[in-house]
Amino acid sequence: MIARRTVRRLGALGGLVLVAGLAYALRWRKNPSPCPYSQRVWLDLPRPVITRSRLRELLAPRPGEDVLEVGSGTGYYTDSVAQALEPGGTVHALDVQRRMLERTRARTSARGSRNVAPVQADVRTLPYPDDGFDAAHLVAVLGEVPDRERVLSELHRVLKPGGRLVVGELLPDPHFVALETIHRRAERQGFRFDDYVGTRFGYIGRFLVPVR
Ligand SMILES: C[S@@+](CC[C@H](N)C(=O)[O-])C[C@H]1O[C@@H](n2cnc3c(N)ncnc32)[C@H](O)[C@@H]1O
Repeated sequence: MIARRTVRRLGALGGLVLVAGLAYALRWRKNPSPCPYSQRVWLDLPRPVITRSRLRELLAPRPGEDVLEVGSGTGYYTDSVAQALEPGGTVHALDVQRRMLERTRARTSARGSRNVAPVQADVRTLPYPDDGFDAAHLVAVLGEVPDRERVLSELHRVLKPGGRLVVGELLPDPHFVALETIHRRAERQGFRFDDYVGTRFGYIGRFLVPVR
């Protein structure tokens, strides 16, 4: 009898926690904003589907290239791309939060990567000239920025003709953006969809800037 009551209470508590969690996630989703630095612990957990090796596979970084990483966070992907660009290439790791960039810098220098250039800036106004990058990638970033069309148009501007844009997203990130949504928006900004790995719940997709 007591055991049944305890199970019922635990069930009700679990339900409440779930509803509160969903309400919090919905609120966050409606108000895009950068992932708080206090939540950085989540960024360092191993990730299914959007793995470092899959990102590298779709990004196809080559020695000597300049690659822009938007929203590098704690640098989860930075080092593995930086290694593939040696010799002569650079990852330009951009984030709007200084403390996130400091984590990227600490992590990559601990691993001996010297070809990472951290830059604090907002992706909506990229501090780079036109046609400068061979490739760009952003994982779990697009949903945090209110004006996504602007982000895609900026990325199109700074990529060279033939340049690759690689986008990764994974549920249950409250800011998750579906591949179909990015596909539509990216094509409106002049990108061409090329390939993807994963499912509708988590994927890495590649878009190309057509050669003029
Ligand atoms: C969820 S984290 C993902 C970090 C990293 N890409 C990863 O997958 O581990 C999103 C990152 O994007 C950055 N970000 C959000 N809005 C941004 C903006 N407008 N311009 C540049 N970076 C932004 C945040 O500061 C945060 O570090």
